[in-house]
Amino acid sequence: MNKSQNPTHNVLLGVTGGIAAYKSPEIIRRLQELGITVRVVMTESAEKFIGEVTLQAISGHPVYKDIFSSDDRVMEHIDLARWADKILIAPCSADFIAKLTHGFADNLLSTLCLAAECPIFLAPAMNQAMWHNLATQDNVEKLKSRGVEFLGPAAGNQACGEVGYGRLLEINQLLDEFCNTEKLLSGKKVLITAGPTQEALDPVRYITNHSSGKMGYALAQQAQRAGAEVTLVSGPVHLPTPNQVNIVNVISAKQMYDAVMENAEQADIFIAAAAVADYSPVDIAEQKIKKSQSELNLELKKNPDILSEVSSMDNRPFCIGFAAETENLETNAKEKLTRKKLEMIIANRVGQNESGEYKGFNSDQNKVHIFTPMGSHELPEMKKSILAKQLVELIALTYEKAYEKKHTT
Ligand code: C5P
Repeated sequence: MNKSQNPTHNVLLGVTGGIAAYKSPEIIRRLQELGITVRVVMTESAEKFIGEVTLQAISGHPVYKDIFSSDDRVMEHIDLARWADKILIAPCSADFIAKLTHGFADNLLSTLCLAAECPIFLAPAMNQAMWHNLATQDNVEKLKSRGVEFLGPAAGNQACGEVGYGRLLEINQLLDEFCNTEKLLSGKKVLITAGPTQEALDPVRYITNHSSGKMGYALAQQAQRAGAEVTLVSGPVHLPTPNQVNIVNVISAKQMYDAVMENAEQADIFIAAAAVADYSPVDIAEQKIKKSQSELNLELKKNPDILSEVSSMDNRPFCIGFAAETENLETNAKEKLTRKKLEMIIANRVGQNESGEYKGFNSDQNKVHIFTPMGSHELPEMKKSILAKQLVELIALTYEKAYEKKHTT
């Protein structure tokens, strides 16, 4: 890695209490070698493991410790948060992870993390049992879902004599991951549909399905984190908009079709994760339909197949579909892959289980089978946020290979 590859100029290094704090001077020195200015904030417990004077001498700047410093700079946390291009907390203790998860602002470092708008990276270092504790793991999951990046921890011998995950990542690897700004989807435009659509019958009723939108939203967040410029065309859902994603809210399949068509030509990759209603009423009653008749027949017309329309475009993006199936998963998924002319289809089983829950559609977990024209493989059941990360990596690599092939033949 050389200086010119690195657009980060100002790094705020947070040092929390842990034996690995003795490695902080080396981290500062190595960042400086990349042309980066480092300012250090240490917590009270960090002082038990490393001296302020050492960090001050190596960074060449005063070390910040108090929310209210002795001079007049009472807004220090805001100033520091604005100054930093990135915040790196190494080593990061279990306690600090917990503070950050719950939004505490009881010391300078936690306060400025709350005020910061720049990316935050945590390099955890702790006893392996503390790392594996469900409380820590829940906190880590929550932070990841908010966009906080984790570097490590690594596995190996620990200062406490135990062996396992919890060591500070080896410094070369830590810095490689921290400084590597070239992400898998850098410069790529990704268009994603998510959620159900609602097809109005009259002013108060509609036809819809059980899609929660969670898979599409998780994919949008992960694609954004992988460096893509993401446009998310979303049906009606109850989910917060993913960070730094352009959102287009729609209700009906026709509106989703229009929004997708407006963005499809500019897109490099199109991921159709929405559960689009296949049919909509031929006529929408102007007034609420009365329950006077003993039978009511609805006349429905087929909605446009958005994915097929996009994959038939001349200047089409790389197209990925989803297949939510209640039966014959493999046959149906493969048939859709061919018929809709897709590069990949991600299939999962849906339907009600014995407890009446909707598997796949409304849950936080998903188990999928991936089919491409080259072959297939299955991923085990996992959280949708983790699955989305793996799918985005797979999509990026498959896209890259297809793109390379196109340019070498
Ligand atoms: O044909 P089926 O609905 O099972 O296909 C599922 C895939 O096609 C999903 O990726 C879904 O988002 C997409 N689709 C679409 N427009 C429709 C119906 C499905 O884009 N009208």
